[in-house]
Amino acid sequence: MATVTAVLHRGVVDSDEPILCADDLGVLRGDGVFETINVRQGKAFLLDEHLARMANSALRMEFELPDRAEMAELAEQALAAWRERGTGEAALRLVATRGREHGGPLTVFATIDPVPRARILPRRDGLRLVTASLGVDADARGRAPWLLGGVKALSYASMMSVLRWAKSQGADDALWVSADGYALEGPTSSLVWLDGDTLCTTPVSTGILPGTTSAFLLGNAERIGLRTAERLIAVEDLVKAEGIWLTSSVRGVAFITSIDDQSVAQRPDITAELEKLAGFEVPS
Ligand SMILES: Cc1ncc(COP(=O)(O)O)c(C=O)c1O
Repeated sequence: MATVTAVLHRGVVDSDEPILCADDLGVLRGDGVFETINVRQGKAFLLDEHLARMANSALRMEFELPDRAEMAELAEQALAAWRERGTGEAALRLVATRGREHGGPLTVFATIDPVPRARILPRRDGLRLVTASLGVDADARGRAPWLLGGVKALSYASMMSVLRWAKSQGADDALWVSADGYALEGPTSSLVWLDGDTLCTTPVSTGILPGTTSAFLLGNAERIGLRTAERLIAVEDLVKAEGIWLTSSVRGVAFITSIDDQSVAQRPDITAELEKLAGFEVPS
């Protein structure tokens, strides 16, 4: 049961209350969009950026989200209820489905839950990655918009599947690699690496999801003396980088310790600066 549940135009409801019908297209086809947002001290981090990405995801799927003010109000209703329970780190989910199969309004709701300790331990312990083929070239999704590159659609079954597969291989997470050999992103996180004094990430033209966390880090990297770049990188070059991280709103900044069992270089100094820059607490 979610700790807090709020429904558009209704506000906070009992989290035991059913809020979806059996013919909701979000359930039947994963036909909808979502965002997961870091909550600290009772406030949503980078809310505007998440709302903008969510509206864009919906547009790409040819439906229109309620306007920004309504979505922000829904988030605030959930946050107000969460603040009554405490101020620990939490995840705010915003979900909008196309609605019911035979028409009618979108289904739009928000939930907030505490972030489980296991999700944030990689900030302290790092991650072992295993590469997984996405099956298409790095430029394929740009030419095939129906593949929904750059869209945070509800259909995350293959993301969950590759995570289970990575774990079955003894790794902690996967790294999507294009058919032509470029490292792209994690199934639920963005790829960031260090080349000299340049903090790099993958170009959005590859169809990766534009990460709010990676954008924040690159947008503020100058404050820690780093330049930034968006670059394509082959896996064989990535393993030679001076530091590699997966970043996301819930996970924060997780450093990589190995890729396909090959140890990679680590920069604990930069890891600490990046966590601090984006305000992620490192668990003890
Ligand atoms: C595929 C994918 N890439 C990247 C990210 C990281 O995005 P953000 O930093 O906005 O959480 C996510 C987040 O869930 C994701 O699902």
